[in-house]
Amino acid sequence: MKVRWGIIGACGIAKRRTIPEVLRFAEKSEIVALMDVDLQALKATAQEFGIPRAHSTVSELLKEDIDAVYIASPVAFHYSQTKEAFAAGKHVLCEKPLALRVEEGEELLELAEKHNLKFGVAFMMRYNVYHQKIREFVTEGKIGQPVFARAQLTCFYPEIPGAWRQKKATGGGGALTDMGCHCIDLLEWFFGEIAEVFGFLDTITHKYEVEDTSTVLLKFKNQAHGFVDNFFNLPDATARNILEIYGTKGAIFAQHTIGQDPGGEVWYCFSEAPQGYDALQRRTPTSWQKLELTPKALYAQEVDAMSEWILGGPKPHIAAEIGLRNMRVLSAIYRSAEERKAVAV
Ligand SMILES: NC(=O)c1ccc[n+]([C@@H]2O[C@H](COP(=O)([O-])OP(=O)(O)OC[C@H]3O[C@@H](n4cnc5c(N)ncnc54)[C@H](O)[C@@H]3O)[C@@H](O)[C@H]2O)c1
Repeated sequence: MKVRWGIIGACGIAKRRTIPEVLRFAEKSEIVALMDVDLQALKATAQEFGIPRAHSTVSELLKEDIDAVYIASPVAFHYSQTKEAFAAGKHVLCEKPLALRVEEGEELLELAEKHNLKFGVAFMMRYNVYHQKIREFVTEGKIGQPVFARAQLTCFYPEIPGAWRQKKATGGGGALTDMGCHCIDLLEWFFGEIAEVFGFLDTITHKYEVEDTSTVLLKFKNQAHGFVDNFFNLPDATARNILEIYGTKGAIFAQHTIGQDPGGEVWYCFSEAPQGYDALQRRTPTSWQKLELTPKALYAQEVDAMSEWILGGPKPHIAAEIGLRNMRVLSAIYRSAEERKAVAV
């Protein structure tokens, strides 16, 4: 049995990644109908993927014989469209962030609970096989006591007339909201909740309103420190999207795992030796080993995980409370940057 999905905002990331992956790899999910306000793009998307049922309004889409909707419209519409979907009795997987404001996110979670509907947030990077293994390493104690973690995600994003992501009212924020949210989510998944944040957010290159430069210091509840850096002004050719995890007994270094593609490269170094003080500080560079795993499509897995939940299976680790949690952390970072001081989450 498959869950029947409708897609709101079908011609952006949905067309680029989610629809093709679901059609190719998903086992528990079927795409029944699409919705977008750009009718030309909608027609082309419907044709490209052979999904003839396509609508220009959410209310028309919700009349379809569907169980759930995937909301991939611009951020400013997430709150109202999720509410509309819940009112029609549909489960929801919503793109990040869940809404513009924390109070809206809270209301959406309450509504899901009230209507007994499943609600998830599209943090697909949790389905990267390397991230899953890294989490396993950390929770099994392979790195010892967690000490420091860094996550980076960048792209080059110049001014584009009318782009919703470049205005606060429609995107919520810039590099931090758009890309930093994934980095924060991954680090909380590895190390547990963040207690305190200090952010420097600036627009130093482009002419738009939201930040193109974001550097954030983190302090986790387990006392470890962290660092998240996100930029809209670095060339894509230089983007290594680095992930580094350090503990008292080992370290993990990854590049290109954070992103839309499922692969990446990961090295780890775990030390079982007694850790006496070596005044010569000798290094053993050969002790790093490469981790080799088979990548799996991220977007198909997140949709299938929601479908499994809807069909009575286990609650996935992308249930909406982590989306709300993420909004709270981001909100504390924006406040910290504004007030130029560390802020508790
Ligand atoms: N998880 C990821 O990898 C990832 C990547 C990119 C974007 N996103 C998220 O997906 C969402 C969309 O981003 P995008 O990059 O696809 O944007 P986009 O601008 O490329 O696409 C958005 C689509 O929504 C449509 N749209 C606009 N207004 C609408 C409305 N009122 N109702 C329905 N559809 C509407 C547009 O016509 C367009 O087809 C955002 O929340 C973004 O943060 C996630």
